[in-house]
Formats: sequence, structure tokens, C-alpha cells
Amino acid sequence: MHLRFVTPDDAELLQAYIRRLSPRSRHKRFLGALSELPKAVLDDFVALGRNDRYSLVAIMTQDGVESVVAEARYALDRASGRVEFGLSVQDRWHGHGIGPALIAHLEQRALTLGGVVLSGDALRTNDVMIALARKAGFAIQPHPDDWTLVRFEKVLTGLVAQSSSSGLQMVGHEPRNTAHAIT
Ligand SMILES: CC(C)(COP(=O)(O)OP(=O)(O)OC[C@H]1O[C@@H](n2cnc3c(N)ncnc32)[C@H](O)[C@@H]1OP(=O)(O)O)[C@@H](O)C(=O)NCCC(=O)NCCS
Repeated sequence: MHLRFVTPDDAELLQAYIRRLSPRSRHKRFLGALSELPKAVLDDFVALGRNDRYSLVAIMTQDGVESVVAEARYALDRASGRVEFGLSVQDRWHGHGIGPALIAHLEQRALTLGGVVLSGDALRTNDVMIALARKAGFAIQPHPDDWTLVRFEKVLTGLVAQSSSSGLQMVGHEPRNTAHAIT
């Protein structure tokens, strides 16, 4: 399995992945009901680096056929150093450690961007994500504005690893505009 950044050429690939998620997983990922990404959101997802937002896909090759098994999106708020993320794993691949590996990778991505805190929101009923975040060292708190959500966050103290400690191999080039953000 390898990871790569999503580019504008991936719009259909990403939309097909989102459509294949179960309604329950889509609801957990996007914190509401949706059957696919609205056009404006999809455009934003594939616009690599726009407003310091990035999307990654994890690709699995089986019998020579590539398919997306997970996606993650993260955004840097330069003023606060906060990096927010959301992620999903294709339902049939749940329970194989892909989510934890992606989060470990996102910690490195956030550090590379100069982030100081990594955080995300989840439904307060999302036991799997909450357990995963807790195990990965995130503090879980009630969401400040929405009682249906929790916020998990972790202060980033590690060094940027030379190679990924997540076990996920990154392929392709770094987006050009991340270079400005490396501290
Ligand atoms: C949350 C999600 C990303 C987890 O990814 P995953 O690759 O399936 O994660 P795994 O099951 O391999 O590992 C998650 C950890 O959660 C815990 N976990 C798994 N199933 C659980 C359950 N039913 N109840 C409580 N904890 C559970 C385990 O601690 C596991 O760690 P372990 O491997 O040490 O036992 C995935 O379930 C998903 O895509 N869900 C839908 C979208 C979503 O919820 N996104 C998060 C909000 S942005």
C-alpha cells in the first residue's frame, strides 16, 4: 500500500471512493448525511495546497488493479499552528490498522508544515475513532460549539522523521507550496 497526494486529476477517483463508503462511514467522516461530495467540496479536495489544505489517498494494488482504500485531509491554520484533519478507511478494510498508520503519518505531515497541534472532530458516538485517537495519544474533549461532537487533539513535540514511521510509503512529489511552511 502506498500514499500519495490527491491532485485535480483524481476528482473521479476520489468521488468513486466516497460513493463506495457505507452511509454510516460517510456520516461519521463528514458529520452529516451525504451520498457524495458536493461539486464545490470535491473541487476543494483536489486543489492541492489551496488554503493550506491537502488530501491524501492510500492506494492498494491487488492483481494489478489499483484502488483507493483510505483518504485523509488536513489543513493548517497558520495563525494558531493548528492542523485539523479528517480521515476514512474503506469499510471492508476496517480493522487492519490503516487508520492508526494514517494518523501516525499525518503527525509527520503536520510537523513538516510547521504545525504545533494536530486535532480533529468526531461524532461523540464514534467509539472506534475515539478509541483510536486515545491510543494515539490524543486528548479527547467535548466540542466547544457542538454537543454531538468531541474534539481530539495532540500537541506535536516530535521531530520530523527522515522516513515515515507509520509504515505507509509516500510516493510522488511534495506539493511545491509546502516548502514555504517548513520551519
Ligand atoms: C475510524 C477509522 C478511520 C478507523 O480506521 P481503521 O483502519 O479501521 O482502524 P482500526 O480498527 O485498524 O484501529 C482502530 C483502533 O480502534 C479501536 N477499535 C476498533 N474497533 C473498535 C470498536 N468496535 N469499539 C471500540 N474501539 C474499537 C481499536 O483500539 C483499534 O486499535 P487496535 O488495532 O490497537 O485494537 C475507520 O473506522 C473509518 O473510516 N470510519 C468511518 C469514518 C470515520 O469515522 N472517520 C473519523 C472521523 S473524521
